Amino acid sequence: MVVKNICCIGAGYVGGPTCSVIAWKCPDIRVHVVDKSELRIKQWNSEKLPIYEPGLEDVVKECRGRNLFFSNDIEMAIKEADLIFISVNTPTKTYGIGKGRAADLKHIEMCARKIAEVAEGNKIVVEKSTVPVRAAESITHILSANTRPGVSFQVLSNPEFLAEGTAVENLLHPDRVLIGGEESVEGDEAVAQLTWIYNHWVPTEKIITTSTWSSELSKLASNAFLAQRVSSINAISALCEATGADVSQVAVAVGKDSRIGSKFLQASVGFGGSCFQKDLLNLVYIAECLNLPEVAMYWQQVTDMNEYQRTRFAKRIVECLFNTVTDKTLAVFGFAFKKNTGDTRESPAIYVCSHLLEESARLNIYDPKVECKQIEHDLTSAAVTSDPERVQQLINIYSDPYEAVKDAHAIVVLTEWDEFISYDYRKMLSVMKKPAFIFDGRKILDHEALIKIGFHTETIGKRFSRNTLLRASGDHFPSFSWTL
Ligand code: NAD
Ligand code: UDX
Repeated sequence: MVVKNICCIGAGYVGGPTCSVIAWKCPDIRVHVVDKSELRIKQWNSEKLPIYEPGLEDVVKECRGRNLFFSNDIEMAIKEADLIFISVNTPTKTYGIGKGRAADLKHIEMCARKIAEVAEGNKIVVEKSTVPVRAAESITHILSANTRPGVSFQVLSNPEFLAEGTAVENLLHPDRVLIGGEESVEGDEAVAQLTWIYNHWVPTEKIITTSTWSSELSKLASNAFLAQRVSSINAISALCEATGADVSQVAVAVGKDSRIGSKFLQASVGFGGSCFQKDLLNLVYIAECLNLPEVAMYWQQVTDMNEYQRTRFAKRIVECLFNTVTDKTLAVFGFAFKKNTGDTRESPAIYVCSHLLEESARLNIYDPKVECKQIEHDLTSAAVTSDPERVQQLINIYSDPYEAVKDAHAIVVLTEWDEFISYDYRKMLSVMKKPAFIFDGRKILDHEALIKIGFHTETIGKRFSRNTLLRASGDHFPSFSWTL
């Protein structure tokens, strides 16, 4: 069999960009992306795509209607396809056994059942969603229990490693493509087919093949390792603030060791996004279920440290603003979980803002890409507040950062958008309440310059001795009992 038709179930942050790039690089293959959401499909077929990713619009415009199609006709797409990607969401369970930790596989199961119900002929089913190890076994079970004469399936694991904001670049130049398959003649043939698709643009040496279970676990492990690096440098940032060391300098020194490497050592207000927290919790849950409590505790600490970092930053804002933010206006720069995306899932901004709102601060929020209604939804959802009306009164969403800072007591930077670096902060200072504060939760601004023009400046992992104002808790360093 040569793959001529691909179907992708799930037109989200993974399914959309991944299949757009496949269609672009494989003009000989027809790619049909389907979703149960009519709105999402309508957006994929419109001028304004449902997600913002640099470079994506050009790719979609070139391929859409040629060999890339978006529709809600899931059954038709499954029937026509030789290879089916499952790219649906696998969020943390919010109910029942494993609530708050296990991955919710209901969408995966629905896809497997739908494929079993309507598929004709031989199909390769590819698990692209991030799933717990051995999920492919369940998919295979559902498919084989419902098989009909003349229909056969091979299930592969092909986790996606793209990061939002750089999805197109990551897909075009992946560090590796991972394919896990059954160790059998049919399994090898299916792996060869998927390898052939990637080989249209990815060199063979970058395509790793493993057993299905190793592939599934490698995805969870990769995200856990990345998140662990962020939590590690954030833990060091707390030590820096307490001792007078500078976390940026420490990160450079540590990262120069080629065994450690310099990437993912940017201290911050904490990691966000739809993956790290969910996949860590899933790993913890799996370890607990396998009676490996020490392993579970180890990885749990990575997410605990992240929560500590967000809370620590929010508390520091209140503390610096003379221990009260009640009725004070704070301009929040950035709401997305990282730059170059409009995605707010698990954004640290949600946690920091909700802490400040609890303290009755008024928030003027500006983000270049996040929709106004998304911010309102995130801050008024039941998981965040029991009083959505009160929150609604305390927040204002702005489309101009210069408007957002008028009469504000402080600016709080929560996403590392490039445009924040080049603002005219002198102009902003002139319309703010004095003393004016700036809290850089992403370490992107020129702090020395801000101090020079008169901002009281605070950031992660560094204390500024030249700040004129004393911290409410006292600006003297503690005497270290372990020094001479
Ligand atoms: P998403 O929520 O953006 O998209 C999932 C889509 O699947 C939604 O549009 C939803 O309507 C659709 N869907 C759900 N059930 C369906 C069904 N039965 N039939 C048809 N459509 C259905 O999710 P995402 O961010 O694209 O993530 C998808 C998977 O990829 C997750 O397992 C995630 O962990 C993993 N992943 C995500 C990223 C990322 O950066 N977002 C990166 C790597 C891996
Ligand atoms: C992550 C993985 O990187 C990707 O491989 C996987 O497929 C999906 O999950 P993503 O969540 O999109 O990607 O973004 P990523 O760049 O990993 O950043 C995650 C969070 O960590 C962001 O909030 C980011 O701001 C934060 N981060 C990242 C830091 O705080 N410091 C760093 O040094 C790196």
